[in-house]
Amino acid sequence: MIRSKNAGKLLRVGVVGVGRGQSFARGMNEKIGMKLVALCDTWKERLKTVGRQYRVATYASYEKFLEHEMDAVILANYFHQHAPFAIQALRAGCHVMSETTAAKTMAECVALCREVERSGRIYMFAENYPYMLAVQEMRRLYQAGEIGAVRYAEGEYNHAADEDWRLSISPGLRHWRNWLPPTYYCSHALAPLMFVTDTLPVRVNALSIIEEAVQSPRTVRVADPGAPILVRMDNGSVFRIWGLMLSSIHRVRYEVHGERGLLTTGDPLPSGMLRIYHENWLRKTGEKPHETLYRPDWPDHGNLASQAGHGGGDFWTSFHFVRAIRARRQPYLDCYRGVSMSAVGIQGWRSCLEEGKPYPIPDFRNEYERRAFENDHWSPFPEDAGPGQPPPSILGYVSPDRKALERAGRVWKGMGYKGKDLPPV
Ligand SMILES: NC(=O)c1ccc[n+]([C@@H]2O[C@H](COP(=O)([O-])OP(=O)(O)OC[C@H]3O[C@@H](n4cnc5c(N)ncnc54)[C@H](O)[C@@H]3O)[C@@H](O)[C@H]2O)c1
Repeated sequence: MIRSKNAGKLLRVGVVGVGRGQSFARGMNEKIGMKLVALCDTWKERLKTVGRQYRVATYASYEKFLEHEMDAVILANYFHQHAPFAIQALRAGCHVMSETTAAKTMAECVALCREVERSGRIYMFAENYPYMLAVQEMRRLYQAGEIGAVRYAEGEYNHAADEDWRLSISPGLRHWRNWLPPTYYCSHALAPLMFVTDTLPVRVNALSIIEEAVQSPRTVRVADPGAPILVRMDNGSVFRIWGLMLSSIHRVRYEVHGERGLLTTGDPLPSGMLRIYHENWLRKTGEKPHETLYRPDWPDHGNLASQAGHGGGDFWTSFHFVRAIRARRQPYLDCYRGVSMSAVGIQGWRSCLEEGKPYPIPDFRNEYERRAFENDHWSPFPEDAGPGQPPPSILGYVSPDRKALERAGRVWKGMGYKGKDLPPV
């Protein structure tokens, strides 16, 4: 049982977006300290069905939703539309937890930080991968000095996908999953490494991959499927993060190389397992065995975490959000860490379009540094297209062929999708 001074007082929370948003809705109960009071989605049929299931107020208009009596808003609407929604909710007096990405442009990164500071409300970036079992243990070991300071780290998030499944989660030709350049969804690969090592990105360079099997013109996806990204961190170390949606392999893994050893999770280890490695001939007398492989215990609340999605991560994001609100202190995954991950995605895409040229990430806590980006509205998303805006692929703007359009149209129509960007079937 989670105890707190206000244990009896549940936070009233509204959720925007009834796809991923349902994971948050499902996880709300007295133990976590949150109560779902309203749902918002522009897809009215879906909203009605989900609203009936949870028996709460439903709104197709975000403005009307914000008039509902509530303490906090969780944003699980489209990937690239979170920052304006977050700013509006903060202005309405609500605390905000936002799905990835925190912001789609450098200007939005700046605006979001300023609004969090002005409002005094809690903002949490809902990255769940740092809270997976093995990653939390990795942080505990790293912070205890097990491998010394980080020099190099790798993070990988690659979601292998067949086209029918991919289409089912990307309805509409303009859906973000069809347009998303491969650097933008970097937080699942990067956030755990930042969390373990307490570092922030300062510079980025990246290369985009072209892969015929998962790319236009045979599919309606117009973006590249993956990218390796090199990130210089503020302590001089270098992280290589990579993945996204390459067809080959489904894999999530992290490894941190320190001055005195290595910590790794994931492939080829079963989920939740962790490996500590110290080179045998570098060990000092009395030091631990050179290789230890184990599945750690949860630090706390194991019964709740082990039932939650994404290896328990979905429990911990809500847990830390409630805790931050009650303590009136910004959480670890605050707006600055959130937007710095978004900035790796944005600046990383700039780098890809110039075959790896490095781009800076400002310290968003510093008004002087971030001010330089306050008018930077560079964006590859279709609603922002126009002069000076970048394409979603290093191939430029690629048109899907007739067969790909027909296939997508059939899948989306079958799901009941009625948007203007439904291709003719
Ligand atoms: N952390 C994770 O593990 C994880 C997993 C899945 C998705 N996500 C994130 O969750 C978000 C949502 O993804 P999804 O998988 O549900 O797919 P999605 O982006 O297609 O769903 C978004 C939902 O928001 C609704 N919506 C769009 N505009 C709206 C508006 N103006 N007002 C109200 N509702 C609106 C859509 O109708 C849709 O139901 C994305 O940001 C994605 O990155 C995170």
